[in-house]
Amino acid sequence: MVMTRTLAPDDAGIDAAVGLLRAGELVAFPTETVYGLGGYARSDRAVARIYEAKGRPTFNPLIVHLPDLAAVQAIAEVGPKAHALAQAFWPGPLTLVLPLCPGAGLSPLLSAGLSTVAVRVPAHPLAQRLLRAFGGPVAAPSANPSGRISPTRAEHVLDGLSGRIAAVIDGGPCAVGLESTIVLADPEPVLLRPGGIPVEALEAALGGLIAVGGDAVKPTSPGQLASHYAPDANLRLDAADARAGEVMVGFGQVPGVLSLSVSGDLVEAAARLFHVLREADRLAGPGGKIAFAPVPEKGLGRAINDRLRRAAAPRD
Ligand code: TXA
Ligand code: MG
Repeated sequence: MVMTRTLAPDDAGIDAAVGLLRAGELVAFPTETVYGLGGYARSDRAVARIYEAKGRPTFNPLIVHLPDLAAVQAIAEVGPKAHALAQAFWPGPLTLVLPLCPGAGLSPLLSAGLSTVAVRVPAHPLAQRLLRAFGGPVAAPSANPSGRISPTRAEHVLDGLSGRIAAVIDGGPCAVGLESTIVLADPEPVLLRPGGIPVEALEAALGGLIAVGGDAVKPTSPGQLASHYAPDANLRLDAADARAGEVMVGFGQVPGVLSLSVSGDLVEAAARLFHVLREADRLAGPGGKIAFAPVPEKGLGRAINDRLRRAAAPRD
């Protein structure tokens, strides 16, 4: 439990918010759509804490916030249609799903292991000031507990997250109050979530119709999603100890050559999960075997187990 500070929408408030983000803390800030729950997008721990603070049952991928198109191009591939939409609507309530550049350095937990990343350039003056002063990518889902209504005032943020986050910048009510429109632009545009920019405006900018995609909450089919978590090695879950030839990944009291968290901390375990999976796969080698110690089915443990079950699922 922390004391959540309310920061004023002035230079001192922005400075304090930047200091907290640099320290890996979470700061809610206003955007023109809804308040975002911001954390440093290159920090596994900060990103894991976002999931924990929201009580998200799964690692639903997060949106990265950047101050301008140039900053976006440094981490993601902006194709021709995405570029047209960015020119037309950024800064503003549009989120583009783009191929992630190799070596972009974002936490793999942020995009939940996908090879794409959702990016947004918000127009709100305070969001712009914060992003420019911070100078790095900020991961931010809506600043509400999972399953609750998105916050459009600082008071809403405090109602849901007081005591779970370091601070909120009070910028008054949000202008748009509805989350951003999410579009996968290239090669053919697909609307993943209706939002702050109407479809008609997108179609006018693209000079053509846009297909309506599935659920933005399930950005790809479970099968595709699963394959992103699937290591080459075979996984055995809930293992008390290693059998011959297995690379053991421990948790808490259960030891291993690797461990998700020696102290049994689920936030640390979530932050390390995708890295540890890769490392265990490398150690096991082609056709090798990995055993995972049990992870408790509570808090972030549910999401960790969900990803581990996907990774262990039989593949064809
Ligand atoms: O207006 C907004 O977009 C607000 C403000 C804070 O920017 N943010 C927001 O974030 O609504 P959130 O986490 O509540 O919603 C993010 C959505 C989710 O539905 C997620 O599935 C989708 O973005 N998403 C994130 N990364 C994706 C990806 N790589 N592919 C497809 N969808 C993705
Ligand atoms: Mg949300």
